[in-house]
Amino acid sequence: MPIALITGASKGFGRAIADALAERGWTLIVDARAAAELTAAAELTAAAAGHASVTPVPGDVTDPSHRQRLATLVAQLGGRLDLLINNASTLGVSPLPQLADYPLDELRQVYETNVIAPLALIQAVIEPLTAAGGTIVNISSDAAVEAYPGWGGYGSSKAGLDQLTAVLGEEEPRLRCYAFDPGDMRTQMHQQAFPGEDISDRPEPHTVVPALLRLLDERPPSGRYRAADLSIPQEATR
Ligand SMILES: NC(=O)c1ccc[n+]([C@@H]2O[C@H](COP(=O)([O-])OP(=O)(O)OC[C@H]3O[C@@H](n4cnc5c(N)ncnc54)[C@H](OP(=O)(O)O)[C@@H]3O)[C@@H](O)[C@H]2O)c1
Repeated sequence: MPIALITGASKGFGRAIADALAERGWTLIVDARAAAELTAAAELTAAAAGHASVTPVPGDVTDPSHRQRLATLVAQLGGRLDLLINNASTLGVSPLPQLADYPLDELRQVYETNVIAPLALIQAVIEPLTAAGGTIVNISSDAAVEAYPGWGGYGSSKAGLDQLTAVLGEEEPRLRCYAFDPGDMRTQMHQQAFPGEDISDRPEPHTVVPALLRLLDERPPSGRYRAADLSIPQEATR
């Protein structure tokens, strides 16, 4: 069975990806900081997929010892990793401040979570990924390429993640390295970005998963991909 490591899989998009991959028979390692929520989510994911193997590892992706625990678990599962999805992320300060007012300690934390931690995790599992000829998916955002006022902290971190992904794609020809922009989704992070607003018109995260699965199935060249460009038209699925 292929093995995937998904960060931030207790809710939102990460949880939806975990559900879909477990349904396909993947063996999963998942993380998030809130241990009880992660464990409950992993149990539900495993049960819904007919007792799939879903191992929750609570922790913070910015913590080196947590990343080492994840890498050790990958080694114990046989030393091959087919897929790493760097999905865990922080929006930073909410309401979103202008760059002129952005608290720099908060900005450092945004970069630590959204740029440094994903690269550190890639470094920690690059050998098992290479052994499997595997895939890295770094979850990006349209804020990485659009200049939305207020989104400079989060958006610049995602732009940094995009560029890491692009260079990795050149440096690691045995891997596929994707930055994947999911588009707007109705999640806790999205609500944090629009405090007090009604976000019920945004799509649920599970509706974006087919676009990601298409990327994984078709394995196009490494690069940046938008869910909107990978979506399968409704008519084609009928
Ligand atoms: N929602 C959108 O509209 C949207 C749009 C574009 C891109 N994205 C991207 O999509 C991805 C998923 O976002 P989402 O909207 O699904 O967010 P979400 O619902 O807030 O879920 C975030 C997940 O990441 C975990 N997490 C956060 N910080 C972590 C850390 N330091 N270490 C480990 N786990 C951590 C959270 O659990 P804990 O809090 O318990 O750690 C949770 O499981 C992110 O990369 C985000 O930037 C989202």
